Amino acid sequence: MTTIRVVLNGTAVEAPVDDPRRSLLDFLREDRGLTGAKFGCGQGGCGACTVLVDGDRILSCLTLAVQVDGREVVTIEGLGEPGALHPVQAAFIAHDGFQCGYCTPGQICSAVGMAAELERGLPSRAAADVAVAPAWSPPEVRERMSGNVCRCGAYNGIVDAIVEHFADPARSGS
Ligand code: FES
Repeated sequence: MTTIRVVLNGTAVEAPVDDPRRSLLDFLREDRGLTGAKFGCGQGGCGACTVLVDGDRILSCLTLAVQVDGREVVTIEGLGEPGALHPVQAAFIAHDGFQCGYCTPGQICSAVGMAAELERGLPSRAAADVAVAPAWSPPEVRERMSGNVCRCGAYNGIVDAIVEHFADPARSGS
């Protein structure tokens, strides 16, 4: 038994972890009741479990709970909620960016983390020239979101929602 201290969706939490091998996904879902992040494959292949740690998107199925000790974790529950949706959640609704919704929390957390990567100028495989700052474009977004699988195939809506939201110069840092 060990104890971890995290800022979880804006709240400082001190929580026991009974097994040092416990995944962050199990910690969030089973210990903290945050069921937004989903178990899809359990092996890093689908992105359904994506959450943000210190602003970076990570796969919580491949992360140990003890690895986030002292860090800030944001799940979909920390981004938005009914009546106060995150702008990307609203964009997903506007563009039919989901069908069954199982992958959607991971897609949205990934989109938020991906936006920060792109705005830091990190190149992707889609970059024609890594010396040129990446631009918001459907090919760029498709490449950067390729780790998040949607079994319903709502990819066009997902890409449209992300591009529309993040390419909008009027948005306010969300
Ligand atoms: Fe983590 Fe699929 S459940 S990547």
